[in-house]
Amino acid sequence: MSEQKFTRRDFLQSACIGVSALAVSGSGASVLADEAKDNGNKKGLPSCDILVIGSGGAGLRAAVAARKANPNLTVVVATKMMPSRNATCMAEGGINGVTDFSNGDSYKLHAYDTIKGGAYLVDQDAALKFTEMAGKVIAELDYTGTLFSRSKDGGVAQRMMGGASKRRCNFSADKTGHILMHSCLDDAISNGVKFLMDHELLEISVENGKSEGAVLRNIQTGEIYPVLCKSLVIATGGYTRIFYNRTSTPYIATGDGVAAALRAGLGFEDPEMIQFHPTGVANGGTLITEAARGEGGYLLNNKGERFMKNYHEKMELAPRDVVARAIEIEIREGRGYGEGLGSYVLCDVRHLGKEKILKALPKIRHTGLLFENIDLVEQPVPIRPTAHYSMGGIEVVKIDDMSTKIPGVYVGGEASCISIHGANRLGGNSLTDAMVTGYLAGVGATNYAKDAKFGNGENASKLAKQWQDKFKDVTSGGTTEEMYKLREELGRQNWDNMGIFRTQDKLDLLAKNLEEIQAKYDQLKVPNSNPIMNTAFTDYVELGNLILLSRCACLAAQNRLESRGAHTREDYPKRDDVKFLKHSIVTLKDNKLELGYKDVVVTEFSLDGRKPA
Ligand code: FUM
Repeated sequence: MSEQKFTRRDFLQSACIGVSALAVSGSGASVLADEAKDNGNKKGLPSCDILVIGSGGAGLRAAVAARKANPNLTVVVATKMMPSRNATCMAEGGINGVTDFSNGDSYKLHAYDTIKGGAYLVDQDAALKFTEMAGKVIAELDYTGTLFSRSKDGGVAQRMMGGASKRRCNFSADKTGHILMHSCLDDAISNGVKFLMDHELLEISVENGKSEGAVLRNIQTGEIYPVLCKSLVIATGGYTRIFYNRTSTPYIATGDGVAAALRAGLGFEDPEMIQFHPTGVANGGTLITEAARGEGGYLLNNKGERFMKNYHEKMELAPRDVVARAIEIEIREGRGYGEGLGSYVLCDVRHLGKEKILKALPKIRHTGLLFENIDLVEQPVPIRPTAHYSMGGIEVVKIDDMSTKIPGVYVGGEASCISIHGANRLGGNSLTDAMVTGYLAGVGATNYAKDAKFGNGENASKLAKQWQDKFKDVTSGGTTEEMYKLREELGRQNWDNMGIFRTQDKLDLLAKNLEEIQAKYDQLKVPNSNPIMNTAFTDYVELGNLILLSRCACLAAQNRLESRGAHTREDYPKRDDVKFLKHSIVTLKDNKLELGYKDVVVTEFSLDGRKPA
């Protein structure tokens, strides 16, 4: 008998379906069949009960939660790449959640650190619910087999992270996001979640004030079609690729879900709040995880001085915004190395010793070798801040189910803003966010889908046709060079004028330049009309989203006349709780951006503990 081989790829492939499986007359995963028609899908469009967009931690977690809450409902995850490629892997230091109360830690203290770390732009009710769920998530992940590092007593290992008053960051060496994502993926496949791989979100469709599904583009075949669903979860991650040339996030972090939500009428909350992680490798910005400092690593200037002592009592473990600013000040004042964009300071872990580095920080050793040709065991690594995380995202109505203002649309993870992270997220809270809000969104979407009917697909079909026409029009000439130059220019403009230090002059200049970039984009053509694997068109769609989201961030930043967390205005250096204890909300109406505000929810914590702003 020949030996049967079943590879991990087979396991992944077993969960990937084609859209025909969702057709009313299709086969395979089409559990809907004629039931879908009876339920309102008169045109017989591809459909599933719950459609999740995005296969990072939040999307996978939402999908599993939805299946577990009601195994009779079909759950499909549409993902722009392989289900295992996403920005979750970029959060490596660990996942925060209190599991040890013996040292005086508590959910409330975790909430307090989160609120203070977020420079009080955090909704306190959301933070309290988040931190309470966080501890329970760790136990659940451990129980379901996540490969955590272990403490001496066999428990999940924990380390310090920036802005935390206790050791509560649970980790798997310095690969936590990676390992977590794979355990969520295994869980999803085992629970019958199906995947539409290589599917790009183009539009969210709203009919009669409710969600009716999404318009997707199959990147492999080029087909553009509507997929109807009873409820939709947007978990497409953040938009830090607006800083195209210097970010720790993957190329896919283009905020497609946030942009589609804006076009569908939802608010974009706190778009100006973008986190610059202090330690990206000088060469390009890939992450040297905060775990390096959590394990005791130093930051050194060109005098060999641990300069953080001049900025914050927690030194290297101050909140990220404080450390990022400190590094830039050192460079500005001549205490860095190199010149211009190539300037840097050093992150030094040599004193931890080879054994510890290999055990706790193997991945950054690899990153150092790969990007800087430096072995961290023997040499410090050049670093500089890098755009890392979007605190802003799609406005959420209720944390309990991560619902939005459009019935049937739920959001989770970095694409959402509830707001747990306010103006600065603490290291280790992003994976927790993905796990907690993803779960809540999945359960929320299931509860909604249970009694919902499919829309008739009129609007989704119309939107799909518009995109099919757009494909024909856009792919009729031009050069890709022109497009990629524009993308570089966008990244440079955002970095120069809306980076770590901002002023009115710079932001006004950016607003003007973004208008010009938008105008050029509107005329752009892509010279490949072949629909199959047309990655230039994918890049075109992403660039449109990046420009739109940059304009939102710039508008909110121009009008926030204070410094708070990651938003540092050199011309308004103080936090102003009288005028700006408010969330910015940007909406898109008649193709124009509008800026409004919403009060921050303050319940039990006072606003006087943070220095500086
Ligand atoms: O530095 C890091 O490992 C990043 C973690 C996070 O963003 O939470």
